Amino acid sequence: MRTQVCIIGGGPSGLLLSQLLHLAGIDSVVLERRTRDYVLGRIRAGVLESGTVDLLRKAKVGDRMDRQGIVDDGIVVGGETHGFRIDIKALTGKSMMVWGQTEITQDLYDARDAMGGTVIHEAEAVKPHGLDSDAPYVTYHKDGTEHRIDCDWIAGCDGFHGVSRQSIPRTVLKEYERIYPFGWLGVLSETPPVTHEILYASHSRGFALASLRNENLSRYYVQVPQGEPVENWSDDRFWDEFKARIPGDLADKLVTGPTIEKSIAPLRSYAAEPMRWGRLFLVGDAAHIVPPTGAKGLNLAASDVHYLFEALKAHYLDHDDAGIEGYAQKAAARVWQAMRFSWWFTTVMHRFPDQSGFDRRMQESEIRLLETSKTAQAAMAELYVGAPY
Ligand code: FAD
Ligand code: DHB
Repeated sequence: MRTQVCIIGGGPSGLLLSQLLHLAGIDSVVLERRTRDYVLGRIRAGVLESGTVDLLRKAKVGDRMDRQGIVDDGIVVGGETHGFRIDIKALTGKSMMVWGQTEITQDLYDARDAMGGTVIHEAEAVKPHGLDSDAPYVTYHKDGTEHRIDCDWIAGCDGFHGVSRQSIPRTVLKEYERIYPFGWLGVLSETPPVTHEILYASHSRGFALASLRNENLSRYYVQVPQGEPVENWSDDRFWDEFKARIPGDLADKLVTGPTIEKSIAPLRSYAAEPMRWGRLFLVGDAAHIVPPTGAKGLNLAASDVHYLFEALKAHYLDHDDAGIEGYAQKAAARVWQAMRFSWWFTTVMHRFPDQSGFDRRMQESEIRLLETSKTAQAAMAELYVGAPY
């Protein structure tokens, strides 16, 4: 088989890239290791920057989001005793959208189906070849047979554990990493959300986050120690802990119920460079991971897709390779801004096992600055809503 762009990974980055390319008349094939149901079953991101919202509309997968998503004009930051609101809309003129990654992925799959796009599921042993040549190709196994796709470019959209990044020679690849000594236990419950604006709560018992998906679906998280088994957390234990960490007025009106999903995600900051090696581009989690405090992961994947789509469009439609040459530098510059923001917000809001009284006072002072300074709020709002592309 031959295509113009071979996309490894059928998560949000790979599907969105394939959809945008299709609309511009550029051919692609998506290779995904898992089944569609598995990909759609992963509960992850929920908060979209305004740039991501615009990109989804441009990809013609914004209709359901615009009808059912929840426009979010502000966030609430909680300290030990009370919470305060940061009015993102008033400070930036822009809003976020609460719309689940699962819904985005569903709409992208539906759009790819409707347009006759090729997404090959359960593609095993996917391997890119000839990255530093003019004739790259990708091999994979399916149904006991080895297949080969010849292409012009390979987009590595295969997440943190994918094969793409590992195909860049060790002598070339530079990695930057920080592992945090805690994870997030997240639950989904069919209960009315305790708040319609995202709440980030810093408490001496640990961090907590209240988010939502719709009027009867809540998404809540608490910080837990690194390596904690999810089996240690009954629903009752989760609710008691969550309630203890959020401001009292919200705790009083929290509605609890059985959880329908419960999992623990480790927290890390990670970036690999360069984001392009010969004919291979790294996109989204394949190139970088941010801790979820700040809701940047999926949004960074979207901005990478935007830069790569524009680069490929200019290459094919205008015979202009400036975008291809500039992709790695342009995408990484935006990534590092979000990397800093996510690291800062994570560091301010969580309890660290070895933190001193001084460290705690510094955290409290950062939160107090955010509460009292419009300038500090404006800086935070600008980063939270996302830098323009
Ligand atoms: P992935 O979603 O990881 O997709 C990669 C795909 O590639 C997968 O389908 C995988 O099966 C496939 N694949 C892997 N290896 C191979 C291979 N060898 N061959 C073929 N296919 C392969 N981000 C936000 O912006 N906002 C949030 O609010 C937010 N909250 C989060 C909460 C949690 C608990 C977690 C865990 C993450 C959160 N994120 C958030 C991050 C966000 O979910 C990710 O950044 C996003 O999924 C990245 O998309 P991706 O397509 O790049 O990678
Ligand atoms: C959600 C996840 C986040 O990481 C975040 O910062 C805000 C909201 C969510 O799942 O809704």
